[in-house]
Formats: sequence, C-alpha cells, structure tokens
Amino acid sequence: MASRSILLLVFVINYSSGSLVPIEREDDTTIAVLLTTSSPQTITVTPTRPNTTICFDIVGCFNNNDPFNNANNELPQSPDFINTHFLLYTSLDETIPEILNYTDDSTIKNSKINPSLPFRIIVHGFTNNRDSAWISPLRQELFKKDPCNVLVVDWEHGAKFPFYQNAVANTRLVGKQLALLIKKIHDISGLAFDNVHCIGHSLGSHICGYASNPDDNSNDDTKFGRISGLDPAGPFFEGKNKAVRLDKGDAKFVDSIHTNTEVAFGLGLGMKEACGHIDFYANGGTSQPGCPSIGNLISSVLGGQSESAYEQSSCSHGRAHGYFIESINAKCPYTAFPCHDYKSFIEGKCIDPPCSGTGCGYMGFTSPFSNGRGTMYLNTRSTYPFCGEQ
Ligand SMILES: *[C@@H]1O[C@H](CO)[C@@H](O)[C@H](O)[C@H]1NC(C)=O
Ligand SMILES: *[C@@H]1O[C@H](CO)[C@@H](O)[C@H](O)[C@H]1NC(C)=O
Repeated sequence: MASRSILLLVFVINYSSGSLVPIEREDDTTIAVLLTTSSPQTITVTPTRPNTTICFDIVGCFNNNDPFNNANNELPQSPDFINTHFLLYTSLDETIPEILNYTDDSTIKNSKINPSLPFRIIVHGFTNNRDSAWISPLRQELFKKDPCNVLVVDWEHGAKFPFYQNAVANTRLVGKQLALLIKKIHDISGLAFDNVHCIGHSLGSHICGYASNPDDNSNDDTKFGRISGLDPAGPFFEGKNKAVRLDKGDAKFVDSIHTNTEVAFGLGLGMKEACGHIDFYANGGTSQPGCPSIGNLISSVLGGQSESAYEQSSCSHGRAHGYFIESINAKCPYTAFPCHDYKSFIEGKCIDPPCSGTGCGYMGFTSPFSNGRGTMYLNTRSTYPFCGEQ
C-alpha cells in the first residue's frame, strides 16, 4: 500500500474560547491539533522541562538553556531511538544506496564516494522519510545535472507524527550526526567542505544549518559551501536566536525558498524571516497558487474534513521542493526581483528597469549564479511546470 506523508500543519487550539491561536503559549492548557489523512488528532504538549543536560556516546551533550529552549525546552531523543540512516548514491550507482556510518570508518573507506565531485545532501522534515515522494525526483535531477555524490539523510523515527516538539529538538542531534559524518568523509577521503551542498526541506533546513555550523561560530573553515533551505520550518524557529535556526552565517552561501509563511492566525509551516544570502518569496511566500487558501483550510479542519485539509496544507509547504526540483535542469530561469514587499512587486514597482540596482535572482538551484542577493519576489504558474507566466 502506498504510504502517504501525513501532517503538515500544526495548530494550537484554545479549548475555552475555541479559537485558533499561535502555537507558542505560556500556559499548559493548550493542545496541538495536527491533520492526518484520517481524522484530526490531538496531542498534549508536554509540560515544559526544567533546565536539563542530556549526553550520549559520540554525539555528546545537549542542554536546553537559552537559546536552546526553543522546542518548549524539549531535548533530543537518543541516537538509538532516532536511528538515523545515511544513504549514499553516486554516479557509479544512482539507484542502490550504500549505508554510511560515522562510527564505522570502513563504510566510508569502502564507499564509492568521489571527493572531487559535488557532494549533495538531501534532508527531509517532519513526518517524511527516505521514501517521501519528492526525494527520488530530486536525486534524479541532481544526477542529471552533473556527476555527483548524493547523500540522503533518513531520520524518520525522530521526525514522527504527531511529536513535532520532539522532532524540533531532534534536529540538533541529527545535525550533529551529519556533521560528524561529513568530518569523517573529509578526513578519510579528502572531501572539501566547500564541495558540500546541503538541501533541506522544512525541519531539514535547520538540520543542514546545525550540521554545517554546529557551534554557531564565524569560522568558515568547516562550513559547507552551500545550504538550500526549502521552506525552512517556522514553528519553534521563527524569530529565535540564529544559533537554533538556519541563517546566512551557517554556510558560505545560503539560499532559501519561502512558500508557506501564511500569517493569518499566526499559522504557517514555513519561516517568514529571511535566513539566507538570498531569500525567495514565491508568490509572496504565504501560500501558493493552485493550493487552497488558509481560510478554506481552517473551516475544513473545524468541520472535520481533514482529508481535504491535508491536501490543502501539504500543498504550499511542498511547493518549495517542487520549485527547487524543477529549477535544477529547467531552461526557464525562475527570475526573481528585489523588492521591498510583495504588494509593491505585484503593482509592478520593482521590475522596471529589469534587474537594475542589486540585480535579479534565479530561484532554486542556480541562485548562486545570479547577481541578486537579499529579498526577492517572483510569481509562478499554479501547475507544473511552475516556472513562467500563467
Ligand atoms: C536555566 O535556563 C535559563 C534560560 O533558559 C537560564 O536563564 C538559567 O540561568 C538556567 N538556570 C540554570 C540553573 O542553569
Ligand atoms: C553503525 O555502526 C555501529 C557499529 O560501529 C552499529 O552498532 C550501528 O548499528 C551502525 N548503524 C547503522 C545505521 O548501520
């Protein structure tokens, strides 16, 4: 049976008033309502933990002192529980992965890694795993672009529905594991950190940030060449200290695509704040054309029609990887324009003369090759191919 990824939206509901409120609240009377393919489910947000430090072999210790209290003080689960798998595909074998293990050097020594080729990493987010529908097309487009290594990070057990709060805390540990593995590959095969491009969707974006820059320092020596954040997760990250979320200090080049920062009711799976050298707000970034509006979504949640609510909520968040996948080999360049805000952009105030000043950007894979930096806006089509005018 085909498994479908579930959830993609986190709400907090205040029972006494029955109203939808933003996810972060001070009191313990809130519950999170998450959408599934079946019926809406509720989970209790665990009571806030006191200051704690938790330590594991090899990956080390994690505490929840400020700013690492962003997951409601939750701490990472154990490496045994999360059971992260690193699957390496290479141009010598694009379909059957080798399993790499940072505790077993032989898995790296015996692998088909070619350190002189680009080393691209794919990291999924909440409720996803190695089999999520977008991972294989992304891998294939990357190999079609040019010979490379592609590493898929599967942290399914740490990203399980409905434990969003745990998943947020687990991003730190999975990021540390990925950092250890890349360091090992560097030491053993000579892979240059500059050659590493980490592509993360949702929570995976923040894992890329933790992996490239675990100690949030300014030393560039061990930072990855590039991180692409595909609708970086917003809840528990938005507005937080840059040490806990993806930011442009995390790699030599950070590009980000924002597709689901819907601000109505404070909801949205993606992060609104800019976090890269270049940030693309596709169709304004709040929600995507061809995806139903948040108003419909909320009424269908409240009406119990979670199946349609699921279709709707997953849509805008998932467009970020849809656009990125298309951008890798498409002739259409996804040209984006620097602008103060989306309203000015759609009023045509920022495209005349085209790309004057700081220059335009190309959303997606080719973004480093455009001159543009900063906040960019563009519109897309509502159906595949997304690039271009309607
Ligand atoms: C507990 O954490 C808070 C912030 O998260 C910090 O201000 C406080 O100093 C910590 N207390 C101890 C005993 O470490
Ligand atoms: C990694 O290697 C260790 C032994 O060094 C083993 O216990 C562990 O199960 C391996 N992990 C995976 C995912 O294969």
